[in-house]
Amino acid sequence: MSTRPQPRPGVMQIDAYVPGKSKAAGVAKVHKLSSNETPLGPSPKAMEAFRSFDHLELYPDGAATKLREAIGARYGLDPSRIICGAGSDELLALITHAYVGPGDEGIFTEHGFLVYRIAIMAAGGTPVVAPEKDLRTDVDAILSRVTEKTKIVFLANPNNPTGTYIPFDEVKRLHAGLPSHVVLVLDAAYAEYVRRNDYESGLELVATSENVVMTRTFSKIYGLANLRLGWMVAPAHIADAVNRIRGPFNVSGPAMAAGIAAIQDEAHLAKAIEHNERWLAWLTREIEALGLKVTPSVGNFLLVHFPKEAGRTAQDADAFLSGRGLILRRIDAYGLPDALRLTVGDEEANSLVVAALRDFLGGHHA
Ligand SMILES: Cc1ncc(COP(=O)(O)O)c(C=O)c1O
Repeated sequence: MSTRPQPRPGVMQIDAYVPGKSKAAGVAKVHKLSSNETPLGPSPKAMEAFRSFDHLELYPDGAATKLREAIGARYGLDPSRIICGAGSDELLALITHAYVGPGDEGIFTEHGFLVYRIAIMAAGGTPVVAPEKDLRTDVDAILSRVTEKTKIVFLANPNNPTGTYIPFDEVKRLHAGLPSHVVLVLDAAYAEYVRRNDYESGLELVATSENVVMTRTFSKIYGLANLRLGWMVAPAHIADAVNRIRGPFNVSGPAMAAGIAAIQDEAHLAKAIEHNERWLAWLTREIEALGLKVTPSVGNFLLVHFPKEAGRTAQDADAFLSGRGLILRRIDAYGLPDALRLTVGDEEANSLVVAALRDFLGGHHA
């Protein structure tokens, strides 16, 4: 018998999530392009709602009633099917804890968002990885890994860190191929950024099936990452299960107030979409013109691939860019050691990144 408390089996096998760096030593101005945050910041109306929030001594509304109503009104959803959380991360964990236990399996894709693996292992389940094709979800690879032990399948669409997506037809094919006891989680954290006619976040599938859940976040395009606010919509029976294990006051009042204002500020949203559309295309074009491979992205970030040649690797580029205060994301933990993930920044940051990459490839010193 051990003399001190031991975590449940599997817990110590989890690699904790490592967030994107936010500092660079000895640099006057840092541009943090490592966490897919928006360069536009939150809606001024959301900031105002946050600042004017009073009565921090009172517990928040544990049912998040007004926020759920605002989300419901915005998307035409029944608020009773909506659950809010401290970021969508919390909701991903709660869904997993409600449906996965020891002996169960959860599937996600090869370069899928790391939180899925953590959530499955934390619940005592076994993570099962489905290979991707050209850094894109392969529906057949997921379906071929389903067993009677499978309880949950995660699909980030678009995916982080690859920035790729699958069309709604493919999502529907995935759903049609899953046994009805499997929960399909559609993680649509970047849905607002996608400008493709064949893309859908999945609301229709949630409304018309008994086993599909969609998660969304206020952290990305709404610029409220620090407040920790996300939501999910689910069939009534899944919402009921998740609500039973949810912390009673998991979302704070200031977060809810800011979220309501943010979701109603369509002009700010439009501005953010427009900014991203313009600069995502610009960055892709300019970086490709330097001779680097870029994975076509529909999110607010893109993958830049580097050669393996000494002096020109992703690691070398990361060090060079950091020296100029440009912080990108290393993604070795996602099985992509030869690429860096770049978040679309403001005009200044974007121009500096392209100039720095040009100098890096040209062999200039930082
Ligand atoms: C695909 C994906 N899902 C979910 C999240 C979680 O975001 P949050 O917990 O801030 O809502 C992120 C953030 O990086 C993400 O990239």
